[in-house]
Amino acid sequence: MKRLSVQIIRTKKELRTQITEWHMKGLKVGMVPTMGALHHGHLSLIREIQKHVDKVVVSIFVNPMQFGPHEDFDKYPRSETADIKKLDQVGTDLLYAPEVGEIYPDGFLTTVSVTKITEGLCAAKRPGHFDGVTTVVTKLLLQCLPDVALFGEKDFQQYTVLKQMAKDLDMPTEVMCGRLIRDDDGLATSSRNVYLTPEERQIALEIPKTLKQIISEIEDGTQTIEESLEKGTQHLLDSGVKEVQYLEIRQSDNLEPLTRTFGETSPLLARILVAAVVGKTRLIDNMPIKIFF
Ligand code: PAF
Repeated sequence: MKRLSVQIIRTKKELRTQITEWHMKGLKVGMVPTMGALHHGHLSLIREIQKHVDKVVVSIFVNPMQFGPHEDFDKYPRSETADIKKLDQVGTDLLYAPEVGEIYPDGFLTTVSVTKITEGLCAAKRPGHFDGVTTVVTKLLLQCLPDVALFGEKDFQQYTVLKQMAKDLDMPTEVMCGRLIRDDDGLATSSRNVYLTPEERQIALEIPKTLKQIISEIEDGTQTIEESLEKGTQHLLDSGVKEVQYLEIRQSDNLEPLTRTFGETSPLLARILVAAVVGKTRLIDNMPIKIFF
């Protein structure tokens, strides 16, 4: 059997020893935090970070703190053996796969929390979710101390929150955003896509199609923002989507609501973001959109 080239580490002590050795040699370290069930979106993040650093660390940790009491923590897909093969093939130097006690030892009492940009959008239906994400990512970044960390564009609110957190807390890690990857049929890649039946997948494809339709209506000026979002929401529901949790356009850099600046001639770079439930699966997606006032 071929020997794996990816090194597997399960404790923060061993992780720190390896990272310190690399840093002492002057090597730049990049980290891609994940919850496993790796798909080609994750692999694209790894290929992207390889361009910026000398050594790539991927973490796999299904973080209990970011799941609500009625969410899918227990059934979240776990496939460590298959994940390790993929990491090896794509060229990962180190997999950090800690047990729960390594992240949340007995007596753990701390929460890291970002305000304002964690209100609304995904937070409205997932109270406490972002505190779980910011707390675990703080721990992962402090345990590893990477020079760069890359997060996927699909979770655009998460990326915006983590970038703010790293800046506010003077973390010595540059937080970067990796391109959103779609399957050939247009659906944004997600570990949760495995839950979809073939029929549900057809319904889910209406999500990216609707975003594109809204973008063209608004950018061409054939519909107002309000009309187009309302029509898009109705179209999703008519197509079989069970619930549209939000379909909104926000400013790109801080996710604040759109504001009109008088006299401004260049378009505002914004994001259209959606969360929708298909069958029992909650899906999110987003795309850039230019707003001409
Ligand atoms: O995006 C994810 O997979 C998770 O939210 C993250 C960033 C790994 C934290 O658990």
